[in-house]
Amino acid sequence: MEVIETRIDVKSDEFKANYEVMASLVEDLKNELRLARDERSEKAMKRNEELGKIPMQKRLDLLLDPNTPWLEIAPLAAKGMYDRKVHGAGTRAGIGVVSGREVLVHANDPMIKGGTIYPMGVKKTLRCQTICMENNLPMIMLVDSGGAYLPLQSEIFPDSDDGGRIFYNQAIMSKMNIPQITAVMGLCTAGGAYIPAMSDHVVHVTKTGAIFLGGPPLVKAATGEEVTAEELGGADVHCRLSGVSDYFAEDDADAIEILRSIVGILPKPEKASVPRREPVPPLYDPQEIWGIVPRNISMPYDVREIIARMVDGSEFLEFKALYGPTLVCGWAYIHGYQVGILGNNGVLFSDSSLKATQFISLCDRQGIPLLFLQNINGYIIGREYERGGITKDGHKMVHAVSTATVPKFTVIVGASFGAGNYGMCGRGYSPRFLWMWPNAQIGVMGGEQAADVLVSVKNDQLSRAGQPPLPQEVVDGIRGPIIQSAIQEGNAYYSTANLWDDGVLDPAATRDVLGLAVSASLNAPLVGRKQGHGTFRM
Ligand code: COA
Repeated sequence: MEVIETRIDVKSDEFKANYEVMASLVEDLKNELRLARDERSEKAMKRNEELGKIPMQKRLDLLLDPNTPWLEIAPLAAKGMYDRKVHGAGTRAGIGVVSGREVLVHANDPMIKGGTIYPMGVKKTLRCQTICMENNLPMIMLVDSGGAYLPLQSEIFPDSDDGGRIFYNQAIMSKMNIPQITAVMGLCTAGGAYIPAMSDHVVHVTKTGAIFLGGPPLVKAATGEEVTAEELGGADVHCRLSGVSDYFAEDDADAIEILRSIVGILPKPEKASVPRREPVPPLYDPQEIWGIVPRNISMPYDVREIIARMVDGSEFLEFKALYGPTLVCGWAYIHGYQVGILGNNGVLFSDSSLKATQFISLCDRQGIPLLFLQNINGYIIGREYERGGITKDGHKMVHAVSTATVPKFTVIVGASFGAGNYGMCGRGYSPRFLWMWPNAQIGVMGGEQAADVLVSVKNDQLSRAGQPPLPQEVVDGIRGPIIQSAIQEGNAYYSTANLWDDGVLDPAATRDVLGLAVSASLNAPLVGRKQGHGTFRM
């Protein structure tokens, strides 16, 4: 493997200007993450303390092995939605190490509207379950929730990917032999009662933890019976009488200790093996990425400069370097794990699509995880290219991405437009994880192009009717809102709020996140290319 030779001048004005812009985006990101983690009302903090509950961050700190990494999932889900205070969609979730084992932790935050479940909260829980199923990770749930956020109940209850799907998935995960361990640290009401009920192990905190299908107010309204939460579904009831819970805990800290012991006795899976070597840092500082990524998303740059700052020793074995140059493919190591990298260096042509297809096939056969660095405006368009079969060649790439069985990881480092999103393993192509950089944009096409398409459709209608084209002020009236909504709905925060990704990343931290993600993915066996592909259109 050769060291990538950089052509970046870190002293240039261009570098400095880009660096400043990205530094400010990363600063904003850090502030948003801090807010999501810490902003809680005085009232909620006081109530938590009165109840003798340990605050969320402390619960996580006690649960996770000291000095081990934590890969948070969708910390900015639901950002800007509801009353703008439902941080992380009301939950914290992430992959961490408990008793030496990689697990996924999912925890309701009782300090956000009593830990109630919002529509985005359901989506985040389902995403966490998918991560567990794809990567064979045990799921630890810290339940402390008032159940459905009732004013939005129609958005979280009836449909196929609403609340019921969570319990359905729990049964499927159990069948898949994926351990599910729940600590009841607050209320598990109504549907929420099924979270512990469907789990393999249930730890129940006395006094604060309660499980019931109908809470005391509902019981009183329905039957007239007056009963406290503890009498109705407390730890004593469920550990001694009903058998719903398995382990009686004196308080939060005791429950967390029991959780750690349970994880400690789980059988450890053999991790899948991918080619590895001793990890080394990149030769170039990853933070230089801040100065390399152009502040204008439509400015081209060489993705090799990014790769050089992500991979071990900045070493890269490039595949077909002279062919299909708008897509850079090749092998490298990240934190010691071999990966096959595909990075955009322009729009996708037939040759770059065919190169991608061959490269994906090779990695899949060799059991090498795939990393997609998306910065793509789409596949090339125009008469010449249609005649040359660009759709046919794009199809091969999309097909290969879809059917590849090795773990796939996607980072949207710039644009993610059109079918380029598909070929480069967008969310619909089941990458194990997908992240955005704060400068990234996503959409069917850029706002300008979308606006131009709509204006030209209108003008075609007018021309068919024998009328003159739209005057400029009407054109501006059509274009303005389209461009505006593309800016608003295409940015990284809108994406992450809607859980189209697993989080927004500081570009400089991407290498470390990828290392953790590859490690987590290897808990599931590699399926191998036993089934082959479907039929390629030649
Ligand atoms: N839907 C909507 N909002 C709810 C809610 C629900 N299911 N449960 C609680 N809230 C809101 C409260 O109105 C309050 O809002 P506010 O901060 O704007 O005043 C906030 O969540 C905290 O509730 P509060 O009762 O003050 O906190 P607490 O810590 O004393 O108790 C609960 C929290 C969850 C134990 C308690 O609110 C409760 O029992 N909720 C109802 C549970 C239930 O029956 N759910 C059935 C849904 S399937």
